[in-house]
Amino acid sequence: MRTVATVTVRPIVFWGYFMPDLSEWKPEYSVGNRTLDLQHQRLLALCKQVSSYMCDGTKASVDAFHVILNDLAFYAKKHFETEEMVLAQIGYSKLSDQREEHDAYREKMIEYMFSAMHGSIDKVSLQDYLETWWIKHILVSDMDYSEALKRAAP
Ligand SMILES: [Fe+2]
Repeated sequence: MRTVATVTVRPIVFWGYFMPDLSEWKPEYSVGNRTLDLQHQRLLALCKQVSSYMCDGTKASVDAFHVILNDLAFYAKKHFETEEMVLAQIGYSKLSDQREEHDAYREKMIEYMFSAMHGSIDKVSLQDYLETWWIKHILVSDMDYSEALKRAAP
């Protein structure tokens, strides 16, 4: 009989082949900082709102899309500010990469808000963008700093 060692394997993302479902929070998504985890959870809840959103053409449903977009931009801004502050405090070496990613997200949200102001309620495109962006952000970019955060913890 052969004994096989037990190993812990982090989720591996093969773009286009395997997309983990972040709609339900799991402990393995934690970056090791309660504030950042709570912000991630809030933002993922907003992404879930987008996936369940239905535009029926009424003013109320169009307004609801604008509210979701505003929330996605507002809470992401707060999260990015917190994240950049925490990472600066620990002297994280890839902080500039994080800032670039955050800037790209901000610019994309401005594009969606601009399009929505001009009547484009493109829920499918927004949902695709958010799923891809937040999965990569949390499971790849942010997981990369979680070890540095643990090392810097008092
Ligand atoms: Fe983050």
